[in-house]
Amino acid sequence: MQKKLSSASSRQQPVTRPAGKIWDIPLRLFHWLLMLAVIGAIASGKTQNWFWHEKMGLTVLGLIGFRLIWGVVGTRYARFSSFRLMPRHVIGYIRSRLAGDKTRSPGHAPTGAWATILLLAVLGGMASLGTMAHNDVLFEGPLAATANGYGAGEFSDTATDWHNALEPILFAVLAAHIVALLMYRLWLKINLVPAMVTGGEDKSPKPFSKTHQITGVILLLAMIAAAQCLGLIGERYYF
Ligand code: HEM
Ligand code: HEM
Repeated sequence: MQKKLSSASSRQQPVTRPAGKIWDIPLRLFHWLLMLAVIGAIASGKTQNWFWHEKMGLTVLGLIGFRLIWGVVGTRYARFSSFRLMPRHVIGYIRSRLAGDKTRSPGHAPTGAWATILLLAVLGGMASLGTMAHNDVLFEGPLAATANGYGAGEFSDTATDWHNALEPILFAVLAAHIVALLMYRLWLKINLVPAMVTGGEDKSPKPFSKTHQITGVILLLAMIAAAQCLGLIGERYYF
């Protein structure tokens, strides 16, 4: 019946199938909230505003937690299984770009997929280590006491060192992220940013379901809330 209808309508006018999106709403929300929380965590860390540092850092932790789950149960291009990570993918991709290929295909390019993994790893590492770090005065991550006193012994000192050591690495990865976007823009004449705002346009298969996306947004908010609950552990001093 559906086939008949569509062939009948195709005789009158060309069938215009609604285009799907590349990035779903939860993933876009994740990206821009992550950007704000990371900027907030860096600014508050540098100015030693520990109250906000805890809030921003834990928000990053919750967001990364969300992304790891969404990488498994999310929509098509958000899934880690859609990432093309093999050396042959990366080399093939770079070769095709150097040979003058300026096309845009939906989802992360192999280099972008690696950059995503690197960003998630550095931020996830920094945020989890932060929960066990201390500032040599009264402020410490909510799990530092556990790490120091009852659990992993002196690990809080190590966590603090690693938390600080990851800082220049984070700055380098963030700089690479921005340089890569600029290179796409200036060299390949591809602006990747609007798709992270509007979702972009994927001409091939069916659009994402509303329920799936709403579930994603609820999951994202729940993960942020759960991470903030860590801040309720122990007595908190922000000096
Ligand atoms: C990805 C998220 C995070 C980023 C980007 C971040 C970044 C920073 C930065 C830039 C500093 C200042 C280091 C310096 O003095 O140069 C810092 C210090 C610190 N952060 Fe974070 N942080 C994050 C998450 C967290 C979390 C979740 C906590 C705990 C709730 C935390 C606890 C601390 C502590 C205790 C210090 C003081 C370390 C010291 O004095 O050596 N951080 N962080
Ligand atoms: C603290 C700053 C930032 C962080 C931590 C960050 C993090 C990330 C991460 C983790 C991804 C991968 C998305 C995924 O999970 O699949 C990504 C992708 C992306 N980001 Fe950022 N980002 C930052 C700043 C920016 C800025 C300032 C822009 C542009 C104005 C931007 C534009 C994009 C775009 C367009 C993509 C998709 C790239 C592609 O098509 O492969 N980001 N970013």
